[in-house]
Amino acid sequence: MMRKRTLFFALLASAHALDASAAEGGDAQAAQNKIAMCQGCHGIDGYRMAFPEVYRVPRLGGQHPAYIVKALQAYKSGTRNSPTMRAIAASLSEKDMADLAAYYGSAAAVTAATK
Ligand code: HEC
Repeated sequence: MMRKRTLFFALLASAHALDASAAEGGDAQAAQNKIAMCQGCHGIDGYRMAFPEVYRVPRLGGQHPAYIVKALQAYKSGTRNSPTMRAIAASLSEKDMADLAAYYGSAAAVTAATK
């Protein structure tokens, strides 16, 4: 658990450094018709999902866009292991990832998630 947290913050720090490159060009508006497939797990009440119930779903609203893109790329390539997210990320293009990251990184997503 400790290790995972440390890794998380390390990734977060590097995501900040990469800010300008990775998430550039993301279009939060264009993400509106893509988030339906994410909201079932990530959107409700911020944190938890019903399936598979053993998992706690990380909150995406307010997450750093560059971090979201990196996470999705890692799931797609398999460097980050999650059967659930791998299947989903595999269906996303680079543009989809950038758009979704822009959406979830925006203030609107934070507000929606905490309502
Ligand atoms: C079936 C449920 C489900 C759906 C649908 C889903 N996710 Fe996930 N997502 C998860 C789970 C569970 C994790 C945690 C996996 C892990 O342990 O790495 C996760 C992790 C993530 C992470 C990493 C978050 C972090 O803090 O490291 C991102 C980014 C993400 N999902 C984005 C998305 C996007 C974008 C979509 C829609 C295209 C989506 N997810 C759809 C269940 C889901």
